Amino acid sequence: MIYRVYNDVETEEIGKKLAEKLTILDKKRAYIAMRGEMGVGKTVFTRGFVSHFGRANVKSPTYTIVNEYRAGGKRIYHFDLYRIDGSDDLESIGYHEYVESDAYSIVEWSERVPEYIPDDAITVTISRVAENESARDIIIEGVEL
Ligand SMILES: Nc1ncnc2c1ncn2[C@@H]1O[C@H](COP(=O)(O)OP(=O)(O)OP(=O)(O)O)[C@@H](O)[C@H]1O
Ligand SMILES: [Mg+2]
Repeated sequence: MIYRVYNDVETEEIGKKLAEKLTILDKKRAYIAMRGEMGVGKTVFTRGFVSHFGRANVKSPTYTIVNEYRAGGKRIYHFDLYRIDGSDDLESIGYHEYVESDAYSIVEWSERVPEYIPDDAITVTISRVAENESARDIIIEGVEL
């Protein structure tokens, strides 16, 4: 499925729609692999995703690797793997325990450690659209919205 959006708010709305869908499907756990270049809108999408569950101040966890939100009875782990240096770093933060728990993991730069992306991951790919500064194409694979 591909969505063309034209601003931050529309990107957030797609993130929220994905969260709504996981809720409707009553998914206990999910791994969402976010793909796309720096500044394309992965954190904006995540903000929309988290907003479905409740209020939260969603910021890029670049320096902390993972942020945890608890809202609406759901746990959400928001990872940014941009700065990790191989799988040792992930082992040391207990990545597997996070990802395998009953929670939603939404992961920026998951392609840094492709071997750590579960087979049942949902993939969200965001890319810029040449002719418009704030237009983006968002492709969602692994679930039908
Ligand atoms: N359609 C759009 N969707 C999302 N963000 C947009 C859009 N148009 C413009 N922007 C701007 O692009 C930037 C996206 O920033 P964001 O932090 O979400 O990127 P990111 O992909 O998480 O980057 P990084 O890889 O550095 O973490 C914001 O400044 C946002 O205002
Ligand atoms: Mg980000």
